[in-house]
Amino acid sequence: MPYLLPRSLTENRNLAFIFAFGDLSYLEACTTLGERLLKIEQPWSEVALAEMKKDKGGYEKLVGIHKVAISITQETKSWSNLVTEVEDFLRELDDDFNFSVSLYGSELADEQEHESLATAVLATVRKAGFRKANMVRPRNGSEVLTKEIVSRKIIDFVFLRVRGGYWVGVTAYIPDTEQFRLRSNERPVVSADISMSSRLAKLLLNISGVEKGQTILDPFCGSGTILSEALLAGVNCIGVDRDRKRIENTKRNLEWTSRTLSAKSASYSLKVGDATRPETFEDSAKVDAVVTEPIFLPRITFAPSLERAQKLVRNSSRLYSESLYSITGIVKQGGRVVIVTPALTASSGKEVSVVLENLEEVGLVPFQPRVKHFDYPAKISHEKTRWVRRLVYVFEHR
Ligand SMILES: C[S@@+](CC[C@H](N)C(=O)[O-])C[C@H]1O[C@@H](n2cnc3c(N)ncnc32)[C@H](O)[C@@H]1O
Repeated sequence: MPYLLPRSLTENRNLAFIFAFGDLSYLEACTTLGERLLKIEQPWSEVALAEMKKDKGGYEKLVGIHKVAISITQETKSWSNLVTEVEDFLRELDDDFNFSVSLYGSELADEQEHESLATAVLATVRKAGFRKANMVRPRNGSEVLTKEIVSRKIIDFVFLRVRGGYWVGVTAYIPDTEQFRLRSNERPVVSADISMSSRLAKLLLNISGVEKGQTILDPFCGSGTILSEALLAGVNCIGVDRDRKRIENTKRNLEWTSRTLSAKSASYSLKVGDATRPETFEDSAKVDAVVTEPIFLPRITFAPSLERAQKLVRNSSRLYSESLYSITGIVKQGGRVVIVTPALTASSGKEVSVVLENLEEVGLVPFQPRVKHFDYPAKISHEKTRWVRRLVYVFEHR
């Protein structure tokens, strides 16, 4: 179950999102919350401050966040200015909660600063009548793990260092990410060498804007991680891969998703084919969106030379350009293409990435969320290896 503060305490239109995937999470928030957002700013990659319309909510759909916090006061330079507002907030609570403090900043938060905030919060909480209040300290760094917040029934005070002071709030919502770990690990075919996590697949689907009853295409479907998440959301799936074995793997995973996770309302069709050839899609129905990762570089344990990096990455540029050319024709007008590309940091420090060419010619323009202009590519900040990164582009078919 996700963590959710009692509704009566979450009636606030000023929120902070703490992101798990940096800019990509920001893009998910902007696209998914759409009309509900009045304003959003991203003081640094892992955080956004948002003002929502009165018909709040909708953030339960986001999977790229660690947590959502609601504001409890005006921005302030010191905790002592806040005591009355915090006391008001605490009045609404039973007395069986634990407490914690999470401190975030564009630079690594300071442990001493965290400790002095935790001491000040604890004193206020005790003064407000929570005499046995327990302040849970982080195991390391300056935030308590979200898992612990959920399991130990913690009221988590969130401090964000902004504009020379603090934005202060309380964690109101934490998504259930355990479900993604289970799906990633328990499906019949787990191909860690080529697959993305189920959570990232769902995040990309959210960015594609595809809805229940619509249809999605993954022309490089591998073991079907993206398609499985789509099926679960009631989205019809078309999968293509040039490798017959991979198509069989996708089929086994989709059958499992449909049977075990009861994703029965949507259908899927799979085909062995080369995504760079337009004839592969000749008899295909139109789709509402494409979400795909054509190349997933192998894990590299040392920085490659510039030459090797160029060979590994730039050689794939043609695959990207040709497949975008061949698939765009079956994407409905206004439909989005979400595509993941690899980038490598060479030993010289230079980043080498795929070049996507002639996009305007095929009718693909960068997708822009309503609230704010976005500069592509979105970098995924949380990556396992230092040298390989994922960059994500989102286009709209005009
Ligand atoms: C990185 S994997 C996709 C993984 C997938 N997202 C998942 O999570 O399982 C890329 C897939 O593209 C397929 N592929 C490579 N070139 C292709 C082409 N020209 N046409 C179709 N499929 C291709 C490979 O066989 C591989 O299964």
